[in-house]
Amino acid sequence: MDRNIRTVDDVMRLLDGLFAPEADRWTAGAASWWDGFYEDRSRPVPFFVDKPDENLVAYLDRGLITPGRALDLGCGPGRNAIHLASQGFEVDAVDLSPAAVAWAEDRAREAGADIRFRCGDAFDLVSGELGGPYDLIYDSGCFHHLPPHRRISYLALLDRALAPGGRFALACFAAGEMGSEIPDADFYRQARLHGGLAYSPESLRRIFCDLEEVELRRMRDEPAESSSFGEPFLWTALFRRVTRHDAVC
Ligand SMILES: C[S@@+](CC[C@H](N)C(=O)[O-])C[C@H]1O[C@@H](n2cnc3c(N)ncnc32)[C@H](O)[C@@H]1O
Repeated sequence: MDRNIRTVDDVMRLLDGLFAPEADRWTAGAASWWDGFYEDRSRPVPFFVDKPDENLVAYLDRGLITPGRALDLGCGPGRNAIHLASQGFEVDAVDLSPAAVAWAEDRAREAGADIRFRCGDAFDLVSGELGGPYDLIYDSGCFHHLPPHRRISYLALLDRALAPGGRFALACFAAGEMGSEIPDADFYRQARLHGGLAYSPESLRRIFCDLEEVELRRMRDEPAESSSFGEPFLWTALFRRVTRHDAVC
């Protein structure tokens, strides 16, 4: 008999397991899928460019974030981690995929950036050696690959690792432009994530309602000659961690 559910973690693993193995993009089991994705570095994938997100550059230019300890969550080939290091942040960067981390390390070496890379599941690592506290947690393109129940793990990660007054910044698929808009329950019924989940501004405000919104806007479209990356099919959001009695939901 299988009567093993006792903790929230047990439920999380059970729900992870409802998805078809080939749909997995977020557990340690997905590392090989992402390795295949990164195998050919010359593929014309938009975020393979070696440029930081335009919103990240803008936050720095406008003083909305200032140097401190930063975590790049799902760092991929490291473009945003490297920019943060160049701006004086002490950066930890984590990704599931050994191929992504190897590429990010190559780029960091070429840029002379001192970054602590870790390969593995961010949820495991943040409950151990990457516990923070971080002044900035930055996520470009990881959150929208998580199944709905993993938002709970994600919020727990922010709760654990984001410093009081710290900033959390996110870029994720914009409903109407990119990502699946089917209801949460249907992802479980279909056992698939259909390439990622679309979010509306209202859904992001609701999910991150324990944080204070600083700015939520569409990413700007950046031309090929721009020094930053920008694709308008993404939302960009910057939130600030408030103390509990200030919480807005
Ligand atoms: C769309 S890519 C974005 C990469 C990078 N942030 C960028 O914008 O260039 C999403 C990344 O999230 C990583 N990822 C997904 N789930 C993860 C997890 N649980 N822990 C760490 N990394 C994860 C994947 O390996 C992948 O490299």
